[in-house]
Amino acid sequence: MSKAKIAVLGAGLMGHGIAQVFALVGHDVTITDSIKASLDSAKTRIAANLRDLGDDASALERVTPQPDLAAAVRDADYVVEAVAEDLPLKQKLFAEVERHVRPDTILASNTSVIPITAIMGGLKRRERALGTHWWNPPFLVPLVEVIGTEWTSAQAIEWTMALHAAAGKKPAHVKKDVPGFIGNRLQHALWREAISLVERGICDAETVDTVIKASFGRRLAVLGPLENADLVGTDLTLAIHKTVLPDIESRPLPSPYLEKLVADGKLGFKSGEGFRKWSPEQQAALRAKVVQHLKKARAED
Ligand SMILES: NC(=O)c1ccc[n+]([C@@H]2O[C@H](COP(=O)([O-])OP(=O)(O)OC[C@H]3O[C@@H](n4cnc5c(N)ncnc54)[C@H](O)[C@@H]3O)[C@@H](O)[C@H]2O)c1
Repeated sequence: MSKAKIAVLGAGLMGHGIAQVFALVGHDVTITDSIKASLDSAKTRIAANLRDLGDDASALERVTPQPDLAAAVRDADYVVEAVAEDLPLKQKLFAEVERHVRPDTILASNTSVIPITAIMGGLKRRERALGTHWWNPPFLVPLVEVIGTEWTSAQAIEWTMALHAAAGKKPAHVKKDVPGFIGNRLQHALWREAISLVERGICDAETVDTVIKASFGRRLAVLGPLENADLVGTDLTLAIHKTVLPDIESRPLPSPYLEKLVADGKLGFKSGEGFRKWSPEQQAALRAKVVQHLKKARAED
């Protein structure tokens, strides 16, 4: 992939990390943010990440903070948006961006769950609009889901997949613009049953997590569920489904148990208690453990 001009909108948690990934492989990256402090600190945060990971510090020279949106996107081949998860904000931003970019500039949203169709539907040239769903932190988790709408051109998808593959990411093509794309649908199917097990008194929250981490969680990074189904046999998978699926949680709504936690102010780390109680030390230890694990996996890739 030849050098591209990339504009990243939003210099928060995801935006600065996405800028870092593209700069590291040689692209020129302009980053913008509506909050001055966020934009001003972007390069410092990227520099710290590069140092921490032992990555080439010169990547920083290819990142240019630009407070003016029009100037940030004017020459871009590719624009990726990572502003707050707010539909009207994203719609307004892309309408503005479209006024300043070339007709063939590809426009991507890093929304977590908002349908790309809803964000991009009002654009004049919808064939160049798509979703790219990164995972946090962008420089440690390899997957980027590339989501097409009914209007997205095959070329735009192909170019975007190639851009991310060449940046060392694992792009996955999501062919239909469904809520949650692929990764979050799978993740939340598991979370629904995890919460249900606690709600039904089958085990406590800590046990759910222990069971996953000490069993199939160990294999998941190298053995996907459908590889696993083939490995044990689709006939055995069918037999298990006949017994287990009728009893598995299938409500199409959030769990009342989860709703009560939220209503009671048990919001997880930010309030010190969610499914479990969390001291500041326990929170810091868990965060550090996850980052250590992801760094080790990246080093082994
Ligand atoms: N945090 C995650 O784990 C994660 C993972 C995948 C996708 N996402 C998605 O990525 C997007 C960004 O999430 P985040 O966690 O980086 O949020 P964040 O709050 O850390 O950063 C958002 C940034 O956007 C800026 N911003 C707001 N309005 C703006 C505007 N009009 N123009 C320019 N900048 C503006 C804010 O000042 C802020 O710096 C969201 O859509 C989110 O759902 C987040």
